[in-house]
Amino acid sequence: MGALPYTVYAILLVVSESVQASSVVLEAENAVHFEGKQVVSRLNASGQATLKMYKGQTVSFEFCLTTDTKLEVQNLWYSNDGKSDLITVTVDDTKLGEVLTQMQFKSGEAWNIFKPSGPLGSSVYLSEGKHKLKLRVKKGDKYGVEIDKIELFLQNGQLKNSSECMLLCFDDISYNYSIADTGVGRNISRGRLVQKSRPTLCAEEDNVNIPIFYDSARKFIISANHPQYMAVANNRMPDWENCKMAQSLWSLQDIDLSQAQRVTLTSGVDTISVTPLDTDMQSNLTSYELIIEFSLDGPSLGMMDSETGSIIKVSFGGIIHPVDVSMQYFGRWSQWSESTSKTIYSNKTWDTWKVPDFTWREGQGNSIRLIITALKIERIEIEEIVMNKRGLAMDQSMMVYDDGMTIIEVVHMDLWWRINETMTLKTLNDDRVFQRVDYFRIYRKIPWSENNFCQVFVMYQDGNVRLLPITPHGLDWIPFGSSILIGHSDPMAVRPAAPLRHAEIDPKELTIKLTYLDGSFLFLKLNVTLNETMVILSDVVYARSLASYPFLTFRSMWVANGNTDVDHVSVDGLETHPILSGWSTLRGTAFAFFRKCISKHNTLSPDIRVNIID
Ligand SMILES: *[C@@H]1O[C@H](CO)[C@@H](O)[C@H](O)[C@H]1NC(C)=O
Ligand SMILES: *[C@@H]1O[C@H](CO)[C@@H](O)[C@H](O)[C@H]1NC(C)=O
Ligand SMILES: *[C@@H]1O[C@H](CO)[C@@H](O)[C@H](O)[C@H]1NC(C)=O
Ligand SMILES: *[C@@H]1O[C@H](CO)[C@@H](O)[C@H](O)[C@H]1NC(C)=O
Ligand SMILES: *[C@@H]1O[C@H](CO)[C@@H](O)[C@H](O)[C@H]1NC(C)=O
Ligand SMILES: *[C@@H]1O[C@H](CO)[C@@H](O)[C@H](O)[C@H]1NC(C)=O
Ligand SMILES: *[C@@H]1O[C@H](CO)[C@@H](O)[C@H](O)[C@H]1NC(C)=O
Ligand SMILES: *[C@@H]1O[C@H](CO)[C@@H](O)[C@H](O)[C@H]1NC(C)=O
Ligand SMILES: *[C@@H]1O[C@H](CO)[C@@H](O)[C@H](O)[C@H]1NC(C)=O
Repeated sequence: MGALPYTVYAILLVVSESVQASSVVLEAENAVHFEGKQVVSRLNASGQATLKMYKGQTVSFEFCLTTDTKLEVQNLWYSNDGKSDLITVTVDDTKLGEVLTQMQFKSGEAWNIFKPSGPLGSSVYLSEGKHKLKLRVKKGDKYGVEIDKIELFLQNGQLKNSSECMLLCFDDISYNYSIADTGVGRNISRGRLVQKSRPTLCAEEDNVNIPIFYDSARKFIISANHPQYMAVANNRMPDWENCKMAQSLWSLQDIDLSQAQRVTLTSGVDTISVTPLDTDMQSNLTSYELIIEFSLDGPSLGMMDSETGSIIKVSFGGIIHPVDVSMQYFGRWSQWSESTSKTIYSNKTWDTWKVPDFTWREGQGNSIRLIITALKIERIEIEEIVMNKRGLAMDQSMMVYDDGMTIIEVVHMDLWWRINETMTLKTLNDDRVFQRVDYFRIYRKIPWSENNFCQVFVMYQDGNVRLLPITPHGLDWIPFGSSILIGHSDPMAVRPAAPLRHAEIDPKELTIKLTYLDGSFLFLKLNVTLNETMVILSDVVYARSLASYPFLTFRSMWVANGNTDVDHVSVDGLETHPILSGWSTLRGTAFAFFRKCISKHNTLSPDIRVNIID
């Protein structure tokens, strides 16, 4: 948690109020406690106190950044009486510069005269979270030097209370890149990442969307490694906080049927109208017509709401005598369904109607109609009406290969989102062909386990691939996080896809030949070592233009540092950028999508690298 018993937190004074940049002050006397720490009272010092330092001493200050930023030291304020001293300033082990104090001999009076060092010249890029600034007196006389305060300039954001800084980020995490990784003596042009991500508050949404373009893409490698940060937590459950509720499509409360009305709404439901129909003079029964018109998201947004069957639940109030209710729906077939009736006997009980799959249409133009027949004098109201998606069945998997080292399964899903699409899979060892495959997955034996296997590779019919390194020793399983779409996809699509037609797998060699619906081909080799799962792609034939269609698309999730499946991307082992901000296009041949900050979401899901070879 970072709160060491002796830690004294720096007091922060925000000098500049500008939206982005800010100047902040670390009072030297608030340095993290160290043996022999000596605070001196000085009337002219900021906070009326200084920190006394002698040759060889090192002192550190912890601070916490609200966002990724460039940091500079504007001034180190000191006083000195005696010979010059040399102080080095580092932030997280990056040296920012040195301060040479002015020589002054005033028989001790100079200790109350404070001088600024001026800007140190270098700057450092830091990620959100906790960092350490260190001062070391490299040279000095026996009287030492007194430090008053350190003024920092932050290009973005501010400091926050270090004790509230739970985020742990490591700026020394990087992915080194050497020419040997990607073949020797190449002279290839560079690939291009394009930023298509959008912010989200929901950790279960793939908001990170980065198509990768390259003008030949004949050979490339994708690898999955364990995150480089040290973490033993293995958080892996979904977090639906701030996510649009998956099951309920819309709900309405308290509809008074005695009043004719037409209400237009903004979200989910478009309009509600209530119309009293004629009263039968013989029976004194009167009918009310309730029509609810609504919109649903569908496949063009990568959603299944308009395709999935639904369950409509209604609860009534004011029931004295039994009430007849009939329901009809109107959707993609542009005609009202036959009506189904129920008799309602009591208040506040749920009566349900089922609507089959593929009834609704995407977008507007869906309606349900209820005809409610009751005695005229009785005041019936709808307490609540809800439309939910039907529950989905479990995925059905079938083992198609098992040699004790490798297991391969094909899986069929209830309502795969590429509605009309399905792939076939052929196992080359026995020439069997499996139909209606929505995805297939490969398990490898865990070397340090008697008979446990772990998933290392999953490929969906939409081209999406998820990779995992072998489960580390001591754990049962680790989660998938980021994924990568292999094959041409529409870079403008909300949910991009590179739909597959057929996969031919050689289980012994772990090679797969992929045939896409658009006519592209790709040859894939899986290489699973103890700490890395790698796919090598080659022998490609692209059906569409590589200039307009990406050959890969990186997909992941970022809500805020510490709640991510990825937080940074680096290019050719050099530049590192926050995954969601500060760039629109990056060029290079080796890209690493990784985390610097320990994430509470899928803590041990892998970092992903893409190396273009040819
Ligand atoms: C404090 O600083 C002022 C100038 O800012 C200086 O005139 C004064 O002498 C200093 N006080 C002492 C005690 O040195
Ligand atoms: C920082 O947090 C600690 C503990 O919550 C609190 O005692 C202290 O006053 C805070 N400091 C500032 C500057 O907010
Ligand atoms: C990258 O690797 C080279 C050689 O292996 C090494 O000299 C260099 O320090 C490494 N750089 C980083 C940032 O790890
Ligand atoms: C690499 O390609 C560029 C442009 O095509 C060319 O100018 C350069 O000489 C090439 N370098 C090598 C080492 O082949
Ligand atoms: C209908 O209502 C009228 C007056 O409200 C009443 O006289 C008559 O008996 C009612 N008929 C039936 C069938 O309940
Ligand atoms: C339903 O609620 C109404 C009041 O809202 C009450 O008069 C009526 O008796 C209740 N019906 C039943 C069947 O309990
Ligand atoms: C499925 O196929 C039908 C026609 O065969 C087409 O109208 C519809 O758009 C397709 N749906 C999807 C999601 O591709
Ligand atoms: C698999 O990876 C290991 C380690 O990187 C390498 O030594 C080996 O040659 C690779 N195997 C294949 C078939 O590429
Ligand atoms: C995998 O582990 C080996 C041995 O510990 C190490 O040399 C190698 O760098 C690791 N590879 C990666 C990609 O971490």
